[in-house]
Amino acid sequence: MVDRIPEPELMDDHEQAKAYAEADFSEPNRLFVDLFREAFPDVVPMGTVLDLGCGPADIPLLLASLLPGAQFHGVDGSEAMLAHARRAWKAAGIGHRAEFFEGTLPQIDLPRDDYDAILSNSLLHHLHAPDVLWTAVKARGGAGAPVLIMDLRRPESVQELDKLVETYAGDAPAVLRRDFRNSLFAAFRPQEVREQLREAGLLDLDVRIVSDRHLAVIGRLGRA
Ligand SMILES: C[S@@+](CC[C@H](N)C(=O)[O-])C[C@H]1O[C@@H](n2cnc3c(N)ncnc32)[C@H](O)[C@@H]1O
Repeated sequence: MVDRIPEPELMDDHEQAKAYAEADFSEPNRLFVDLFREAFPDVVPMGTVLDLGCGPADIPLLLASLLPGAQFHGVDGSEAMLAHARRAWKAAGIGHRAEFFEGTLPQIDLPRDDYDAILSNSLLHHLHAPDVLWTAVKARGGAGAPVLIMDLRRPESVQELDKLVETYAGDAPAVLRRDFRNSLFAAFRPQEVREQLREAGLLDLDVRIVSDRHLAVIGRLGRA
């Protein structure tokens, strides 16, 4: 059994943010988009989508073509990451469809009270107090809003953990290999996330195992 070892919350070191923004996360990013499409096939492609811990905002950039009428708000405590996000959206020619805000959960200041969908990828395992994510989901999600939160899940043994690092980051730069290993130690298990949701009263959200290293929390917020 591997005990959780939290890692630093923010990725605000410039070298770390650059290595992360330049890394190839196309496989998990595609998985996220596929899960969104399968879970919410009838989602209206309008409204404003909030991405919590958006980092370089690659996932909403992929979703932007699936939801051509939507606007995107991303929030992250790392200005270094947000600089990459702004640059990528501008380079894609759709900078006008996204706004990025520096803010560290639980203190985030956003222009809207309610969002039409809430996303988050790979934020949960960074949080020392995971309830801040669930509090933000409840506070910012409109009634019936689709929610998709994906994250790593902590392996059962150090051997399994090191095998995942070798498989998925064996050829990656040292900083990314180190971060991936630390992230696997910091990640929650599906049962731990189920308990977090129960404590938060988010009973409409399900926890699913979606890959050999990921879990996802999927559902619509209860209608008021
Ligand atoms: C592993 S990155 C994931 C980025 C992006 N969601 C993606 O999938 O590529 C985690 C991000 O969460 C941000 N973060 C961590 N703790 C945070 C907090 N308490 N409030 C806001 N952002 C936070 C980090 O700065 C980092 O950019």
